[in-house]
Amino acid sequence: MSEKLKWWQETIAYEAYPRSFKDTTGNGTGDIKGIIEKLGYLESLGVGVLWLTPVCKSPMCDNGYDISDYTSIDPSFGTMEDMDELFAKAREHGIRIVMDLVFNHTSDEHPWFIESASSRDNPKSDWYVWRDGVDGKEPSNWRSIFGGSAWRYCPSRDQYCLHTFAPGQPDLNWANPDVRHALYDAARFWLDKGAGGFRIDAITYVKKPDEIRWSEKTDGEDGMISVHDMTANQPGILAYLHEFKREVCSGRDVFTVAEANGVGPDELKYWVGKDGAFDMLFEFSHINLDFVGIELWCKPQDWTISDLKKALRDSQEATRDNGWYPAFFENHDKPRSIDHFLPACPDKKLAAKTLATILLTLRGTPFVYQGEELGYQNASFASLDDYNDISTFGQFQYAKDEGFSDEEAMAAVRRFSRDNARTPMQWDDTPNAGFTSGKPWLGVHEDYRSDNVKAQAKDPDSVLSYYRALATLRKEHRALVDGDWQEIMADDPCVIAYRRANEQETIEIYANLSCNAITLDATGSVLMATGAYETGRLAPYEAVILAKS
Ligand code: NOJ
Repeated sequence: MSEKLKWWQETIAYEAYPRSFKDTTGNGTGDIKGIIEKLGYLESLGVGVLWLTPVCKSPMCDNGYDISDYTSIDPSFGTMEDMDELFAKAREHGIRIVMDLVFNHTSDEHPWFIESASSRDNPKSDWYVWRDGVDGKEPSNWRSIFGGSAWRYCPSRDQYCLHTFAPGQPDLNWANPDVRHALYDAARFWLDKGAGGFRIDAITYVKKPDEIRWSEKTDGEDGMISVHDMTANQPGILAYLHEFKREVCSGRDVFTVAEANGVGPDELKYWVGKDGAFDMLFEFSHINLDFVGIELWCKPQDWTISDLKKALRDSQEATRDNGWYPAFFENHDKPRSIDHFLPACPDKKLAAKTLATILLTLRGTPFVYQGEELGYQNASFASLDDYNDISTFGQFQYAKDEGFSDEEAMAAVRRFSRDNARTPMQWDDTPNAGFTSGKPWLGVHEDYRSDNVKAQAKDPDSVLSYYRALATLRKEHRALVDGDWQEIMADDPCVIAYRRANEQETIEIYANLSCNAITLDATGSVLMATGAYETGRLAPYEAVILAKS
């Protein structure tokens, strides 16, 4: 039944991709001043947590996930004064800023790496994961997540360094306590500035296996195996993460949410909750239904709504008595949710509202990704040249190497590219959607003239208005926040349905994710619905929230 919650459990979190949020300088990339300008907008969505993807100094080979100074602001985003202003102004809007800690790797332009790469015997020589080659080749046949070998040769050491992601993102050696403590110092720097917590990047990769060697197991024609399969979630990783928690977070009223690809719902109990290392974990079982193991865009698998139901159920149940769930359907790495989960729904607005109904009523803190509250769809760029994302190019190449045609490789890119969700925010119908007065770094979605914040704010039937109403509903009906979660219609293959109940009220949520109408054996007064709900019948793709008397 009802429980005492912390501030970050009661609110709505919003992820901003600052590069695409709002540009105030006309240079075509978003900036911190742009975020400050839109704090009122975020407050109107009921947002109390704003997660910024990295804004630290970076050569931007992976749009900020390659950090070259952990306690600075990249000039493309503004200055530290801007950031201090953001911390202060956000507080005035009731919003806490959450920083993105990229601690598995740095940029290859980070001074730590430059020193480490300079020789085999410098003071930072073992701050990264260095290995000798084997028979004149890489130390292992591991493929990096962005494609190609996960090893980069460095002539000054005549050795290879590991990069789980791009060659410009060498992996730090967490086995060295000096590395860990330097990272903890950086994290404390941001807490001292007023950060409300952290989203922690790619955390499952920080502990490397004891033995690194060529594997006979391969997963493609290239004779390689994904580094993910060889390094994610290694035994012993939790000891590091508990150390992080002790050293950085204990005694502070902040929260952590870690990105943990490779950890499933069954393991959540070790990662979150009373004795876990983090407060919440982004686990990907519902998001990665398209892939067995690692994401290879040209090799997706089919999945059903029952699979989605199961993944959500497992996470809800795994965090029922211990821990807390960060509900999310989108982020800056994934396709837009309406294209991802309901591609066959002809009414995109309805699809967005139905998914929003689930997102904002599951038990946990909802994480809304910029543009999701407007029902944005995937970008549909004509050519590979229109894309910017480093992994998109790697995936295209992988598809070609596996024998797929250009058209097939492009189809995979269009479906899964990370740029699908990175197109600039559409603020109004002026050129470039009011995002920039210059040339945007990535194409603005073609629908911006009709579909933008200004237009949707005026339309009571828009996706934005629906989000705002859901945010208000969460405030008015606490069971949606602190109530427990119980599945209903568990065997139905198309309807996601559950009950949220506390001592005061019981609320039921029904979402039909199919193109068929469903007979519903449910009573109660309608708190919200995606359409004109007719008692006893859930129209195709319709969702309804009912208060039980
Ligand atoms: C996960 C981040 O979300 C993604 O954008 C990034 O490319 C990788 N980690 C590497 O930092």
